[in-house]
Amino acid sequence: MSEKVSRRQFAKLAGLSAAGMASPLEAAEAKQARARSTAGFPAGFVWGTATSSYQVEGAVNEDGRGASIWDKFVRIPGKIEDGTTGDRANEHYHRYKEDVALIKALGCKAYRFSVAWPRVFPDGDGKPNPKGLDFYNRLVDELLKNGIEPWLTLYHWDLPQSLQDRFGGWRSTETCKIFGDYAAYVAEHLTDRVRNVFTLNESGRFVYFGYGIGIDAPGLTLPQAEVNQIRHNSALAHGLAVQAVRAHGRRGTRVGPAENVDACVPAIDTPENVRAAGIALREMNAGYLNVIMTGRYTDAFLKFAGADAPKHTEAELKIISSPVDFLGLNIYAPQHYVVASDQGAGFVPLPIPKSFPHMNSDWLRVGPETLYWVPKLAATIWKTDAIYISENGASGDDVVTQDGKIYDTDRIMYLRNYLAQLQRATAEGVPVRGYFLWSLMDNFEWVYGLNKRFGLYHVNFDTQVRTPKLSASFYRNVIARNAAGV
Ligand code: NOJ
Repeated sequence: MSEKVSRRQFAKLAGLSAAGMASPLEAAEAKQARARSTAGFPAGFVWGTATSSYQVEGAVNEDGRGASIWDKFVRIPGKIEDGTTGDRANEHYHRYKEDVALIKALGCKAYRFSVAWPRVFPDGDGKPNPKGLDFYNRLVDELLKNGIEPWLTLYHWDLPQSLQDRFGGWRSTETCKIFGDYAAYVAEHLTDRVRNVFTLNESGRFVYFGYGIGIDAPGLTLPQAEVNQIRHNSALAHGLAVQAVRAHGRRGTRVGPAENVDACVPAIDTPENVRAAGIALREMNAGYLNVIMTGRYTDAFLKFAGADAPKHTEAELKIISSPVDFLGLNIYAPQHYVVASDQGAGFVPLPIPKSFPHMNSDWLRVGPETLYWVPKLAATIWKTDAIYISENGASGDDVVTQDGKIYDTDRIMYLRNYLAQLQRATAEGVPVRGYFLWSLMDNFEWVYGLNKRFGLYHVNFDTQVRTPKLSASFYRNVIARNAAGV
C-alpha cells in the first residue's frame, strides 16, 4: 500500500481532508471536542421524576377516600415481603409541599404523579368526592407555582375495591366504561392546568401479576384465556380514556400510555439481528402496545394464543387504537436479547445466563443499551414522533453511613450508563422527548414493601425525614448540563 493511500485513509478515518491534514494528536483532540459537543440532549428535553399515589400518599382513610384493591391486598398475611402497607407510606398527602420543594431542588421541570381513583370516586363510579379532587388541585397548583409541569397518570394500580367486588375489576368491560367516565371527570377538572396525561401504568405488569400469578392486587390466579381477556380490557380502558380526555379535556391536552414495554435488544448489532429485534418488540408487545398503536392483534399473537385469544370486536379495536400524542415507555432492564432466525416469526430470544449482572432487585438486569435500542425500534415499528421514558431507575442498598450520607454509587453507575445510551439515541434523531426518573424518593415498592429503595431521596419511614442521596446530586448535574456525563 502506497504512502499516499494510507495518508488518505487515515484522513478519512479522522474525518479530515487529506489536504489540510492534522497530526494524529490534533485529530484525536478534534474528535473528542466533537464528541463533547454531541454529548448533550436536545434543547427542551424534559427532565422529570415520578411517583404513584398508593406508593407515596398514605392517608388512606382521610377526606373520604374509598378503599382500593391494594388496601385489601396488603392485609393478606404473607403477601408483602416485610409486612408493611401503604397506610402511611411517605405521608405525601400531607407533606406534598415539602416534596415539591425536593423536586425543585433537583432542577426538574416535570413531575409524573398518579391520581388515586378511589380518592376522587370512593366507589369507582357514582358520586364524586370533592375533597379527593381537591388534593390534586392543591398538588398541581403547588407544582406550577414552582415551575414544575404536572404529568398526570390516571391509573397506577389502585383500583377502587368496590369495582372489584361488584364487577370482578378488570375482568369486566363495565370497569372499562366506568374508567372512561372517571377519566372524563379528571380531564374536565384538571386539564385547565395539566397538559399531559398518561392513561394506565404498566398493563404488562398489573394484568399478569394481579390476575395471572396473584403477586399483585387483587391476587388472583386465573387461566390464561381470562388473563388475555383482561389485558384486552385494559387496552380498551386505555382507548376509552384517550377518547374521554379528547372529549372533556382542554383542547390540546396530550395523552398516551405509560407501558412497561417488553424490552427486546439485538444480541449483536447486525442488520439481521436488528430487524429481528424489531419483530420481537412487536410480537412480545402484541397484546397491549402493538394493538394500541396499530389497531390489530398480529397473526402470530392470535396463532400462539389459539383458543385463549381475547374475544374482541372491530369496534373495540377502533377504540383501543384511538390516536395517541406520545408513547410513554417504562424501561428498566433488557427482557430479551434477540437473534435472527429463519424459523417462526423470524427471531429467537436467547436464554439469559444466571450470571447476568443485576441491581439489588433480581429482575433489574443492567443493560444500558436497552435505553438506546427500545426507543429506536419502537419509533420505527410504531411510527411515533414523541417518546417519553415514563420510568427508569434502580433500587439499591442505600446504607446511611456514619456521616449521615448515602453514597449510592451503584445507582449513579446505572443511571450514567443508561443515560449515555439514551443520549446516543437522541443524537441519532430517535424522537425521545423526555425522561422521568423512578423515583423521586424511596416509597412503598408493592410486594417488597418498604424494603426496596428506588429514590433519589432516602426516606426514613419512622421519622419521614428525606435525605438526598449522592444520586440526587448526580441527577441535578445531568439536568443542569442537559447532558449524560459520559
Ligand atoms: C414500575 C412501576 O410502575 C412502579 O410502580 C414501580 O415502583 C417501579 N416499576 C419499580 O419497580
